Amino acid sequence: MMMLHKSLAIFGYACLFMAITSTAQLPPVLDTDSQPLRRGVEYYIKPAITDVGGNLTLKSRSNAPCPLFVGQEPVTSTNIGLPVTFTPIVAGEDIIEESRSLNIVFEALSTCVTSTQWRVDEAESDTGRRFVGIGNDDGPSGIFRIDRNNGVYNIVWCPAMMGRPRCGSAGILVENGVRLLALDGDAFPFEFVKA
Ligand SMILES: *[C@@H]1O[C@H](CO)[C@@H](O)[C@H](O)[C@H]1NC(C)=O
Repeated sequence: MMMLHKSLAIFGYACLFMAITSTAQLPPVLDTDSQPLRRGVEYYIKPAITDVGGNLTLKSRSNAPCPLFVGQEPVTSTNIGLPVTFTPIVAGEDIIEESRSLNIVFEALSTCVTSTQWRVDEAESDTGRRFVGIGNDDGPSGIFRIDRNNGVYNIVWCPAMMGRPRCGSAGILVENGVRLLALDGDAFPFEFVKA
């Protein structure tokens, strides 16, 4: 009887240990073919709901000559958007895992800016919302993550290294008919299509 209890206890500890070690590995973010997203591979970011808009792309605000903001093709558009690559912050991480820090870059040439890396801009004074723009940034404003939420994905800004950031999920804000990616509103559901 003693022996049985002891082995049960050992078995219990083994299970606990396995549970702890297995949660250390976060699930991968999957593309529309159920394959894990990988570092440096190009994907289109597509709405996970139909009839609202197209894939993500670069957009201008207020008819500015340079498209400096992350936006969404209108639902009527025949443009397929621009692909992005994801780069985990931790060197050596090649699979994109849920809720891990990463950079997002549009794989597009821009004559306006030297970098097409996504970053969160300052809050707009009137709405308090923060647009996702592009530009060179090694700091926390360029660190995003992908969270899974009821079978779809949200793009989240909540850099772990900042003290108390105003975390937010990316949603769509329509400004003068232009669909722009912005924090501080409802999260928009996305999925990823390998380019
Ligand atoms: C989004 O991109 C995917 C992959 O290229 C493409 O199949 C799809 O048609 C695009 N969606 C829209 C609405 O353009």
